[in-house]
Amino acid sequence: MKRDIELQLIRIGYQLRTAEVHDIEAIQNLVARRCNPFVVRQISESDLFRCITFGFLFVLLDGNGEIAAFHATHAFGDVERSAVVLFVCVDSSHNGSNLAVTLGRYSSLTALERGMRIKRTWVHPANMATLINHLNYEGYICDGFHPSLFMKDQVRMTISLLLTPATIMNNRIDTQGASHFLASHSEGRHYLCIPTDDFAALADLYRHTSHKIVAILPPNDLHGSARYLALPSERLGMNSVRNTER
Ligand SMILES: CC(C)(COP(=O)(O)OP(=O)(O)OC[C@H]1O[C@@H](n2cnc3c(N)ncnc32)[C@H](O)[C@@H]1OP(=O)(O)O)[C@@H](O)C(=O)NCCC(=O)NCCS
Repeated sequence: MKRDIELQLIRIGYQLRTAEVHDIEAIQNLVARRCNPFVVRQISESDLFRCITFGFLFVLLDGNGEIAAFHATHAFGDVERSAVVLFVCVDSSHNGSNLAVTLGRYSSLTALERGMRIKRTWVHPANMATLINHLNYEGYICDGFHPSLFMKDQVRMTISLLLTPATIMNNRIDTQGASHFLASHSEGRHYLCIPTDDFAALADLYRHTSHKIVAILPPNDLHGSARYLALPSERLGMNSVRNTER
């Protein structure tokens, strides 16, 4: 499966390889071009070194041999064997080809090969491109909402993906299928929908219900903006996912 991804990337003009320590500077330059200073500070040389040496960090080279994208993951020896994504970044001149999802899938297959059982990361709730990639395309579930994850007011959603060949390859959400589900089930009883910019409602959802967000529904005739779709944990077989709320 990993070879299929490598070949698919070659067909569209990219070469995927494992990063080496000498790539750290170019990776940091890409983050500096793409992200705000707060994020840049969070992705340190030693973090990248740890991913390269003890986890897995893949770079995607363009036709000129420049780094167009990277995906960095830490591997932990905790009881759940967690693979924790440090960062994924695609240079803006290469956006629009779902490269982050392709790299995410490749990294999940690598984590599975190495005996990791769950993939985890955290995302700011306004980072729609990343959330669409992770929830709708890769199949992560949002297991927690934290108004102050690292520091006061550093709001983040924590998201996780159980690692099996089936979840990695088939967990893509069919948003049309989701619309049929909504039409044949009742809001409040079988599912909840929340506007993506309503952080107070997100906090309430995770504080007061067992529902977890599984997808982002695009705007439609009835709803002018995107919404989160949340399902009860019992429907999601989430007993095996550790509750990370704090
Ligand atoms: C997030 C990121 C990695 C995605 O890169 P990419 O794979 O090239 O993403 P694409 O441009 O192909 O877009 C992916 C999906 O998000 C959607 N999307 C992109 N920007 C969006 C936005 N501002 N609002 C809503 N949806 C958006 C796209 O439409 C696409 O979905 P579709 O294929 O269903 O149309 C890239 O934007 C990036 O490097 N951002 C800065 C770093 C960052 O935030 N990293 C994540 C840290 S948690």
